[in-house]
Amino acid sequence: MKELPKNFLWGGAVAAHQIEGGWNVGGKGLSTADVMTAGRNGVSRKITTEGILDNEYYPNHEAIDFYHRYKEDIQLFKEMGLKALRTSINWTRIYPNGDDLEPNEAGLQFYDDLFDELLVNGIEPVITLSHFEIPLALYHNYGGFRHKKVIDFFVNYARTVMTRYKNKVKYWMTFNEINNQADGQHDLHTWTNSAILFEEGENREAIIYQAAINELIASAKVVKLGHEINPDFQIGCMMAYVPVYPFSSKPEDQMAALKVMNRRFFYSDVHARGYVPNYVEKEWEAKGYQINLTSDERDILREGTVDYIGFSYYMSGAVTTLENVGGYSIDDFSHAKWLENPYVKASDWGWQIDPVGLRYILNLVYERYNLPLFIVENGFGAYDQIEEDGTIQDQYRIDYLQEHIQQMKLAVVEDGVELMGYTPWGIIDIVSFGTGEMEKRYGFIHVDKDNQGNGSLKRSKKVSFDWYKYLISTNAKEI
Ligand code: BG6
Repeated sequence: MKELPKNFLWGGAVAAHQIEGGWNVGGKGLSTADVMTAGRNGVSRKITTEGILDNEYYPNHEAIDFYHRYKEDIQLFKEMGLKALRTSINWTRIYPNGDDLEPNEAGLQFYDDLFDELLVNGIEPVITLSHFEIPLALYHNYGGFRHKKVIDFFVNYARTVMTRYKNKVKYWMTFNEINNQADGQHDLHTWTNSAILFEEGENREAIIYQAAINELIASAKVVKLGHEINPDFQIGCMMAYVPVYPFSSKPEDQMAALKVMNRRFFYSDVHARGYVPNYVEKEWEAKGYQINLTSDERDILREGTVDYIGFSYYMSGAVTTLENVGGYSIDDFSHAKWLENPYVKASDWGWQIDPVGLRYILNLVYERYNLPLFIVENGFGAYDQIEEDGTIQDQYRIDYLQEHIQQMKLAVVEDGVELMGYTPWGIIDIVSFGTGEMEKRYGFIHVDKDNQGNGSLKRSKKVSFDWYKYLISTNAKEI
């Protein structure tokens, strides 16, 4: 086979909190994303855990107002030829506090209408249950996913939506980029992945492991439950894969790269294989971590392995144990350091651009799990310029995507990787997760809004729009 499969899911990806807006309408509760302020390139977002503060700007509150404009946007997606749209359900539209006894009908209705609109236009919804969004009340009342009760709340939420949409949604994913918290010490990731409330002086790494295990149990329960609700469901996990290369051929560099990779692979190892890998059991033992994981829960992990691996790919990294080459140190890994890979370029935000890394990771993950893969995020965040004639000539975005799609195709047609589809990130400009900026743009469709929240929200096509449309119509035959 020299071509991509005929049923390849070409699409686009977004997430509820970055696109919808409507943060306080239709009975929606406050989510962890609603209390994140705007940062900028190099400046972190603040998380106002106490609630909404008067003097702060919260870019996700309005986002691009997809909540009210989705019909117009779906017409543009249809024109582009999308076969799939990956988005998420905002948990707080369904259970405003997370532990409510009854779901919120207005929220359920919103997604009924949205999915109907997609389906009637020939677009398959691909749905993440928790894309960096957890009811804020679960943080305050339970400390987030460190608490076992939150497993039940998540499963209850999943049962509600999977039952309601069982004839509308076939492709599901449980937790977005669940392995981002592997880096441990970043507040942004422990917040967005697990909404963890840390107590003074406790060991953060141990708590993150506990929250992660609780999420992995929740995910396994949902996979099992989902298959009971509809045996045709395809339920995957969602990982952020960042291939890490040894900077030199020094054996210790290879070992450091393997260790750093394993730290992130741990999550998909459990999702796909159904048990905690030895390298993590040993780490818990060595560090004296008492992770609460019962033998019944171990059975659940085994029974709820995923159908496919969904993942994002944006960049690669490099590590070394060499002295005097710069870089910054990684905790725990025998003096290993991260450093810039001189063989690849980087975006304005310092993300290393490495198309071959996509082919490499596709091969590595496919060999590791022998499961179908789905690239559910890949894209180029960049500053766009509106020309005098109103056009946006985003050739740099086309170049990035083209080079990645070329490598993706090689992985499929030459290496035999089983790949379900490709949904580039931010098919339309949306609020950046990392910085809260609007001007870190990924879209093929421009949205008139700036970092301060000013703009008409008008949509317009960039040059990449027609490029992607043609690519889909030819199934990337000429690439
Ligand atoms: C992934 C997330 O980490 O990368 C998305 O799943 C996010 O939510 C995307 O938007 C790009 O990151 P950023 O920070 O450029 O928006």
